[in-house]
Amino acid sequence: MAKDRIDRIEAYVRRLMSTAAAPDLRIAHDFKHVDRVRGWALTIGEAEGLDIELVEAAALLHDIGLTCLDAEQRSQHGQAGAEFAARFLDDQQLFNHGEIEVIADAIRCHSLPDGGGVIGAVLRDADKLDALGAVGLMRAFTSQHAKPEYDPGHPKGSTWQMTMGKFEKRFSEGRGVGEYILDQVNFQISFYDELHTATARQIGKPLVDFMRAYVVQLDSEIHAAQGRSAKTTDPKRVVERGYDQVAYEYARLEGRVEWPRMRWLSRMLGRLEPGSSVLDLGCGSGDPADIEIAQKHKVTGVDISQAQIDLALRNVPAGRFIHGDAGSVEFPADSFDAVVSFYTLEHIPRDEHETILRRIHDWLRPGGFLLISTEAGEAEGVIAQWLGAPMYFSCFDPETVKQLVCRAGFEIVETAIETQVEQSTEIPYLWVLAGKP
Ligand SMILES: [Fe+2]
Ligand SMILES: [Fe+2]
Repeated sequence: MAKDRIDRIEAYVRRLMSTAAAPDLRIAHDFKHVDRVRGWALTIGEAEGLDIELVEAAALLHDIGLTCLDAEQRSQHGQAGAEFAARFLDDQQLFNHGEIEVIADAIRCHSLPDGGGVIGAVLRDADKLDALGAVGLMRAFTSQHAKPEYDPGHPKGSTWQMTMGKFEKRFSEGRGVGEYILDQVNFQISFYDELHTATARQIGKPLVDFMRAYVVQLDSEIHAAQGRSAKTTDPKRVVERGYDQVAYEYARLEGRVEWPRMRWLSRMLGRLEPGSSVLDLGCGSGDPADIEIAQKHKVTGVDISQAQIDLALRNVPAGRFIHGDAGSVEFPADSFDAVVSFYTLEHIPRDEHETILRRIHDWLRPGGFLLISTEAGEAEGVIAQWLGAPMYFSCFDPETVKQLVCRAGFEIVETAIETQVEQSTEIPYLWVLAGKP
């Protein structure tokens, strides 16, 4: 009887999901997918001591909702599938009402973060396992969300280890999964963190390791190839080009939410006499910091991006702006009362950070102030996608940054790590206000 019930369900699903009946079903959701999910679900269900027949029925029926929905309605395929399945099982009198409710509930919740009881959890896990490993890679390369190419400037993808919640938010905001195939691979890798059962995690571990190894291998091949090409990975050029490209997008970031920048700036400006000389290293468009500084002081800004300098000249007509590299620009000793540098140090190779701080110390008059913010993270020098352009990041951990500030001859007045929201992501920055004795 058991075999017969399952055979009848399988025949029904095969018919509904056949290429002739549902030509739009892709590799990630066709009957072969269902069949693989059934295999994982049975393995997990057995290990977890569940009613195997209910598990198998739910797995076979879990995606039938997709056969009756348009692409835009796909997110509701769990609900549609549950109704479909319940009607079929009831019509055919294959299970009793209680059992049908358990199966339907698991199907209803299989693509939600929770719900659907223990069978729902097994189904979710089995469905996710099908996105991992070699099959996962095959699915990534056929995904409608990913372009089948990588960005040589950005081999790891901005959605690296993105969580499901973040992904859904990104997707609901219309930003998609990511532009490149590796974003999709990395997104699927993140499924591992969402697995519920110990059995699925055990099965998933080598599969996800394989995917990570693939990403690392691809990354190393791309870099080896780049080493022989003229393609620029020079950090300074990447930052210059990046800020040229994102000048407009970047200018809009801070206005949307409140950043700590103006609070720290006003604390420092409160310590200066009117008419002081202030240098802004990595000044960007000059908005809002240099506009504020220029109210009462003389402002000089330096930025590596000509597009940003052009904006600054417009935003702060009273300011003096120099297109140059914060790492090599020259000023006479004792020429400023304060130097500020916001969100800049992390775009300069960290081997240069100490020298830059020493040179700032030199440019400051005794009694002058330094105010910096830099990403509170640790990166040796990576190129990542940022506001749609490749961007270079290199930074020391906050403790080391504070040590470098002190070693350059400053005394720290105030320091804190504060998070700020950039495009709905919270990023921590180290803030240091220091004085030159
Ligand atoms: Fe599904
Ligand atoms: Fe599925």
